[in-house]
Amino acid sequence: MSNQMWGGRFASGPDAIMEEINASIGFDFRLWRQDIAGSRAHVAMLAQAGIVSEADAGAILEGLDEVAREIESGKFSFSRALEDIHMNIESRLAELIGPAAGRLHTARSRNDQVALDFKLWVRDTIDDLDVQLADLQQALVDKAQEYAGAVMPGFTHLQSAQPVTFGHHLLAYVEMISRDRGRFRDARGRLNECPLGAAALAGTSFPIDRDATARALGFDRPTANSLDSVSDRDFVLETLAAAAIAATHLSRFAEEIVLWTTPQFGFVALSDKFTTGSSIMPQKRNPDAAELVRGKSGRIIGDLAAMLIVMKGLPLAYSKDMQEDKEGCFDSLQSLSLCVAAMAGMVRDMTPRVERMKAAAGSGYATATDLADWLVRALGLPFRRAHHVTGQIVAMAAEAGLELEQLTLAQLQAIEPAIGVEVFEALGVENSVRSRTSYGGAAPENVRLQARAWAQRLAGEKKD
Ligand code: ARG
Repeated sequence: MSNQMWGGRFASGPDAIMEEINASIGFDFRLWRQDIAGSRAHVAMLAQAGIVSEADAGAILEGLDEVAREIESGKFSFSRALEDIHMNIESRLAELIGPAAGRLHTARSRNDQVALDFKLWVRDTIDDLDVQLADLQQALVDKAQEYAGAVMPGFTHLQSAQPVTFGHHLLAYVEMISRDRGRFRDARGRLNECPLGAAALAGTSFPIDRDATARALGFDRPTANSLDSVSDRDFVLETLAAAAIAATHLSRFAEEIVLWTTPQFGFVALSDKFTTGSSIMPQKRNPDAAELVRGKSGRIIGDLAAMLIVMKGLPLAYSKDMQEDKEGCFDSLQSLSLCVAAMAGMVRDMTPRVERMKAAAGSGYATATDLADWLVRALGLPFRRAHHVTGQIVAMAAEAGLELEQLTLAQLQAIEPAIGVEVFEALGVENSVRSRTSYGGAAPENVRLQARAWAQRLAGEKKD
């Protein structure tokens, strides 16, 4: 049997393999709410413009309500022979209300329909992700406030560099996530033009009102070029790019959690909630959730690459290749959502081991820069000279197997005679971190201020 929706010129039905490669209902069923919302706006506009009668429009709207109820309640039976969500819904509508259903598709094509549905879905999903990302920021800010003064080693090259605080470290991720939210917001702003009414590719001869449908569906305006309307998937690419960058941030953080929870680092502990045991090694507690966040970033980045590759060779306007836009996008955004939730859970669950971190912060001559700065400030040495003197002192300490503050004044003076006893104040990690008061620096008072500012900003967002 030929396809009832478009099979007029076809004598027989598709080969089984054709049906399998062609059908998208297995994944685009997720667009059903958006498809029905788009059809409602479209038919209301058709009636307004006198293109279909009020009676037919009324029957179509009631029929669409019934279809929505059937899908919602799980009663709807999706058919692969009907290819996709658009034709599944329209065909059921025809069963329910008869020939009037055939008027719904006036001045519309599946090409503008699918562009619309997918835009609406991506827009909804961006809104959900924003709420989740804000929640992750909140978890980080709460911990940062609690541990604003907890000293930990700051690293460069993963070598102990200078002491920072745990709160400062966490707030770095709050900044990253803020940029992620901004990227999603930007993508949302640009996608918010309505493609409905572009029809197959050239627009339509019916006197449709594209401003009305755009407004009814919450868009800022209709898209301006019909070819672009049906062939544009920038909204998918931009959203996947934002997702890939966000996933990269989460992956870096996950990697730190993996490191921090090793017995060798021991900077934080995770509870049973976010770890698993080993079936053979009873002592183990594995940070699987963090590892999976790190691992899932791979597919999220891959989904972006796949979509870029799908699009890069396509002539205008719609090509069926574009049906491949959906699975990767669903996969990416669902994976990201799960990763964000897992990270928020781990942040709330983690217990920083303050003494461990502080001890680590003091080892490895992490206050050598403070000594050099002190030589500049207290003795007026040029920084290059101070750097050299400090290097000699570090070498002596390393030789003796001592930390800087364990050296005697006499030992220090053997290298630089002008050093006085006040130097010891510069050598402790607490003093070191307290001195980092430049804007954006690691001093606990800065961290407290920044954390409070973020808490206020997040609370303000919730009110709007
Ligand atoms: N299932 C299709 C997709 O996802 C809908 C658009 C089909 N358009 C067409 N002319 N065959 O892209």
